[in-house]
Formats: sequence, structure tokens, C-alpha cells
Amino acid sequence: MQSSSAHPTSNDRREGLVIETDVNLKPYNTFGLPATARRLVRIREELDVRRVVDHPELGRAPKFVLGGGSNLVLTRDMDAVVLKMEIPGLRVEEREDCWIVEAGAGVTWHDAVAWSLEQGVPGLENMALIPGTVGAAPVQNIGAYGVELKDRLESVDVVDLTTGRRVELPAAVCRFGYRDSVFKQTGYGGLAGKSVITKVRLRCPKPWQPLLGYLDIERKMGETGIAAPDARQVFEWVCEIRRAKLPDPARIGNAGSFFKNPVVSAEQCRDIISRDPHIVHYPMADGSFKLAAGWLIDACGWKGKSVGGAGVYEKQALVLVNRGEARGAEVVTLSRAIQESVYGRFGIRLEPEPVVI
Ligand code: EPU
Repeated sequence: MQSSSAHPTSNDRREGLVIETDVNLKPYNTFGLPATARRLVRIREELDVRRVVDHPELGRAPKFVLGGGSNLVLTRDMDAVVLKMEIPGLRVEEREDCWIVEAGAGVTWHDAVAWSLEQGVPGLENMALIPGTVGAAPVQNIGAYGVELKDRLESVDVVDLTTGRRVELPAAVCRFGYRDSVFKQTGYGGLAGKSVITKVRLRCPKPWQPLLGYLDIERKMGETGIAAPDARQVFEWVCEIRRAKLPDPARIGNAGSFFKNPVVSAEQCRDIISRDPHIVHYPMADGSFKLAAGWLIDACGWKGKSVGGAGVYEKQALVLVNRGEARGAEVVTLSRAIQESVYGRFGIRLEPEPVVI
């Protein structure tokens, strides 16, 4: 059995909670939008959640769980107590049929992917460079280049925000869908606002099999002549593809894809194709079709357009960007204008991916 640890768990921390007040959230959201948190607590170990729950004031106050802030549009100051997830830790355990990579919720997702490869564990490479933290990854079931988080999830540890109790949830109960999970759902059994993910276990199956069926990756294989890439090669290709078409949030504020790719029935799809034969569409297993929202927005002429400081990225119309001093309200105005024009031309309602506060 192989077992290693990148970050020792912190047991040298003094007891008790540090409650920071009037914290500037601009550095904590990848869009770089201005907002202030009235109260913010850094969660550096699971026990900190318990401390919040047991706290005489914080325990009863509404809470907002903040990961990497990469799926967030802040239009106002945050009244809820912000729990900023900073739980570290990476370990790997080798089993006969898989490797289990266990990561603290505060680990940067890409670091977990890169670290796993360094340990000789393949399987996460198609999801390289997705912004955000490990703890946020299951919430919206992140995915890219043919792999979704749900395809690699073993289990998550969650702490109940009312009782402070921890439970381990196996992937099967997480109700995963396209950019959706039980952690986002508010209806019956939904866990949105009720619990916080503290640890994630990822399952990388043996033997490793590359997933190369995505057009951009096939193109790389053609260009390089490499027909049987290893996981490190796929990782590098995915990083190159993403860097070429998606803005680096460290330089240009953004929250990744702003809308989900809409799913329509075969009949609707045929109807749209009869009017727009070039529309990019992918058949789904259940007979429906997924349409490329980026193509729809591009077709409506939005690429490069702006509303105040908010704009549509020049190289990928599905990504809205902060051109400098954008405010959350400008991002929302721009996104509504895009929704209206796509609805007007195609009769399709685009659903935003990020959480708007
Ligand atoms: N397209 C255009 N014009 C544009 C943008 C896209 O014509 O301005 C066309 C492309 O040419 C392509 C198609 O639309 O034929 C799809 O574009 P792309 O391959 O860039 O992927 P996407 O559907 O826009 C999705 C995910 C991304 C993920 C990529 C790769 C969603 C909402 N987005 O984007 O995830 O990285 O596939 O798997 O599902 C994210 O969720 O934040 C995200 C970046």
C-alpha cells in the first residue's frame, strides 16, 4: 500500500474561532467583483465548522460557503457569515483496482490534479486547470473534455450546519447531473445551505484508460502525431487547450462558462437545425441533444461586446469577463441581455451557471 501526504494536518492551531469583519471579497472571487463580507471565518480544519455551529451568534446566523469563488457573481455585500474553506491535505492510497486520492476541501482543484499525476496516479488529467477548490468540485459536478467529477468521485465528507455532525456520503447519493448535485438542490432531500463539504475522495480506476474522444484533444493527436498519449501528455494538452480559449482568472476576471449548455428534445433540435444548419449540437444517451451555448451567443453577435466593465470574451462567447472595474450588476445586465437575444432568435432559455448573490 502506498500512502503519502503533501500537507500535514494543522494541530498546532489555537482553539477557538477568529471572526474577521468587513472583509474585502474582491480577491476571493475570480470575477474580481467588489463586495464586502460583514463577517468571515476561515475554516482550516473540520472542527472549525463545529465551532461555528456551536458559536452562540454564528450558530444561528445564515451562512455562505466560499471555496475558490470561481462560480460566483457578487452584486452586493454579503450579510451571511462567510465560511471560507481552507482545509488542506492531500493523500493517496493504492488499492487493487484503483487509487483513492483524498483531498481537503480547501485544496485548489488543479493542484490536486497535478499532485496526483506527480504521485503516478492518472485519471484526473482531463479536468486539469478547472478553477476553484476541491470542495466546490462536487457541488456543481465540474467537468471538461469528456470527464465529470461524478465519474471519479468515491465519497465526500460533509458537516451538517445545524448539528455540526460529520457524515461520509458515497457518490451514489449525491444526485449528480450536468453541473448539478444534491449540494445545489433546495427541494426534498437537497443539501443546499444545509451542509458543507470538508473532504473529497476521488477514485481513479485501474487500469488507466485515456479519454480522447473530444474534438480538441483529437486535434492535438493529429497535430502531434501522438496516437497513444500518456496521462501527463493529456494533462499538457488540456492545459494548452484551456489556456488558448479561456481567460486566466489571475489576469482577466471571469467565472468560466457563464451559462450551461442547453439540452433540447430531438424535435426541437431538428426545428432549430432547419433554420440554422450550422448549430453545434451533441446527441445525448437519452435521445435529447445538447446545444453549444457559446455558439448560440456567438451567432447573436455578442463576442467582444460589453456592458460597462463587463464583457463577452473575444475567444469564447460563453465566458463573461471583467474588463477592469466591472460591478456585479453590470455582469447581470449583460447576462440578461444575452439571454433575451438568444431567446428571441432561437427560442432557447439559457440558464446561468454561477451563483448570483
Ligand atoms: N463555439 C462557438 N463560438 C464561441 C464558443 C464556442 O462557435 O464563441 C462553439 C465551438 O466552436 C465548439 C462548441 O461551441 O464547437 C463548444 O465549445 P467548447 O468546446 O469551447 O466547449 P463549451 O461547450 O463551450 C464546455 C464546458 C466547459 C468545458 C468545455 C470542454 C459547459 C457550460 N462548459 O464548454 O466547462 O471546459 O466544454 O469540455 O458545459 C465551465 O463549466 O466553466 C467550463 C469551462
